[in-house]
Formats: sequence, structure tokens, C-alpha cells
Amino acid sequence: MTETQQRARRTAAAFREIYGAEPAGVWAAPGRVNLIGEHTDYNDGFVMPLALPHTTLAAAAPRTDGVLRLHSGGADGGVVDLRVDLRIDELCPAAPPQAGWAGWAAYPAGVVWAMREAGLPVGGADLHFDSTVPTGAGLSSSAALEVATALALDDLYALGLDRRRLARIAQHAENAFVGVPCGIMDQTAAACCTEGHTLFLDTRDLTLRQVPFDLAGEGLRLLAVDTRVKHALGDGAYAERRAGCERAARALGIRALRDVAPAQLPDALARLAGVPDVQPLVRHVVTENHRVAEVIACLDAGRPRAIGPLLTAGHASLRDDFTVSCPELDLVVEAATAAGALGARMTGGGFGGSAIVLVEEADAAAVGTAVTEAFAAAGHTAPRLFEAVPSAGAHRIT
Ligand code: GLA
Repeated sequence: MTETQQRARRTAAAFREIYGAEPAGVWAAPGRVNLIGEHTDYNDGFVMPLALPHTTLAAAAPRTDGVLRLHSGGADGGVVDLRVDLRIDELCPAAPPQAGWAGWAAYPAGVVWAMREAGLPVGGADLHFDSTVPTGAGLSSSAALEVATALALDDLYALGLDRRRLARIAQHAENAFVGVPCGIMDQTAAACCTEGHTLFLDTRDLTLRQVPFDLAGEGLRLLAVDTRVKHALGDGAYAERRAGCERAARALGIRALRDVAPAQLPDALARLAGVPDVQPLVRHVVTENHRVAEVIACLDAGRPRAIGPLLTAGHASLRDDFTVSCPELDLVVEAATAAGALGARMTGGGFGGSAIVLVEEADAAAVGTAVTEAFAAAGHTAPRLFEAVPSAGAHRIT
């Protein structure tokens, strides 16, 4: 039995203990890292996430009385052991917070709300969650929770949703119910990634392509480094960047910054002379979209090592132009590249959270040690390192 199957059995056993009945099944949705294409998704741009082996499991059973019961076992120390009982017809984004409401329970409740908003025939359910996705680490624990819930309900109520619709519903839950103005990358990654691949996604129309990313076969490793600096997208800085991009697009008279081609960048910047605060935002988004295209070209040409400098250039752009990095993320990139990594960058929304490091297999241990030592020397909390193995997207386990 695989480790995941064992976890699924434990999750089902916990469900029986909590609710006194068998779950109808156990579903899984992964966390993610983004290889390249940061802060591009709400600009109709390009992203390239890959799913992590870390997953949120949802054991679930339908209910006929319109009641939604949510329980989480407190994985990763980030979630308290808490049960929340709700009525689905009373779910409302503006409802005053109740015990535990403002925390994790808003995500699955938001998914039920969003499905009902979309006119889908979803009823009540009992759900128990167990997660190995670190929370507040920029690894999309929220999207994993949303997508695990959405997939469970999709099956329980035979909704027949395709994966991209499922991701849209999860994003709507987060935007409108939880109140976080995130883009579509994380939910699509959780719903659509496949093992051994990175997912190239055009966030304008959700066209996607699975790009083979056989790191082990190439003698490479992708390390994820959780800086332990807790990041939260809801604190305003993310929304501020997003609003700045939208302001720039309006000033340029275009639908989204995705519509500025690299060759048009100097002209676009000149036209934004009257709004200088958005110029660096535009420079980041346009160059970052181009870096995604360059990374794909390298991978398609069988030259995965060549993406290293593009990752590091992406970090500089996020640090200097988009200003969403932090000293700990910068330190990961500096220490890793100084120790011989091929490339490194922050991943996800920023303001803390995690970085990724591309490294030769033979150098992985030394680079990891260099990062850990640099953190100790700077007096930072020890980072958490693990390997980002391109893993499966959401699926039913039992
Ligand atoms: C967060 C959001 C995503 C995306 C990234 C930045 O992870 O949830 O939609 O905007 O930040 O690329």
C-alpha cells in the first residue's frame, strides 16, 4: 500500500470517528510551486506551476438535510482541531465571522456557496480534511483545500464538472466568499497538473499544455525552500499590486497587460510617464510573460539547465520591479546561486513563503546546506527544505 493510500485509510477512519458513519470516498488535491510566470495570472498572462507531493485529503459523504459539517484534524500545526456546522442555504459571503469561520472553514464553505451560486445541484455534506501542504508558506494550501472539496462534491453530486470549471469555481469561492483577490493559477494547478509535468497555462482562456519535466532523468533537482516567513495574500499588498496592473492596463487602453508584447514595452513605458508608480509593475509583467515563453522553448528543446538564469532573472524582477520579495527570499536566491545552483527564485505571491532552487543532483546537498547556514548566520528561523517532485493533480483515492 502506498503512503497516500495509508493516509487515505487514516483519514477515512478519522471521518468514522467524527461522524459515526462511513465516508463515501476520499479525494486528494495537491499544493504547488510555480516554476515561472509570477503575478502574471491576473494580467491574463502565462504561468507554469507544478503540483507537489503534498496533498490535502478530503473524506466526504453527502447529506440530505442541507447541513454542511466541516472538520479538520490540525495538520501542520496551522489549523486547529475544529468542527464547524453550517446550513448551506444560509451561506453568505457577508456573514459575520463565527468561531473558526474566518479561518480554514471559509474555503470549503465558499466552494459550496460558489457551486450553488452557479446553479449546480449540490446539497449538504460531511467533510473531514487532513493536509500535508504547509500553510502560509506560499504553496497553495488554500487552493488544495478548495479543489479537494470541489472534486469531492463534484463526485458526490455527479455534477460532471470539467477540471477548468472546477478551478474557476474554487477561485470564485476564494475571491467572492473568502475575499482574497487571487488569480486562477493555484486552483488550476491543483485541478489540472499531472505527474512528471509542469503545466503551461494561458490564463486568458485557460488553454493548457502538459510540458514533460523529468528532473530526475536529467540529473537535476528542484528544491523548495520554505522561509517560514508567513505570507498572507489577504493583507492588502497583493491587492495593491493587482490594482496597479489594472490601472496601467486602463491607462494604456488595453484589456490586460498580457497584451503588451516585449517589443512594445519601451513605448508602453513612455506612455505611462504620467503614472510612474505603475511603470515597474508593467516592466515585470511583460518581461515575466516573455520569460515563460523562453522557459518553454528551453524545455521543448531538451535544455532544462538553460532555464536556471531565467528563474534568477525572474526573481530580480519580482524583487526590484514588482517589490514582492523579502530579505529571507532574497537570501535563499543569493546563497543558493553562490553555492552553485543553476537558478533560484521566489515562488507564489511573495512577501514571505517559499523559493525554488534548480540544482544539479550532485550539488543538491551542498546547496541546501549553504542556504541553511546563510539563514543561521543572518539570525533567521531555520528554513524548511524539500524536493519539489512534479506530482499528480487532484484525484479520487478511494
Ligand atoms: C498567489 C495567487 C495566484 C498568483 C500568485 C502570484 O499564489 O493565488 O493567483 O497571482 O500569487 O503569481
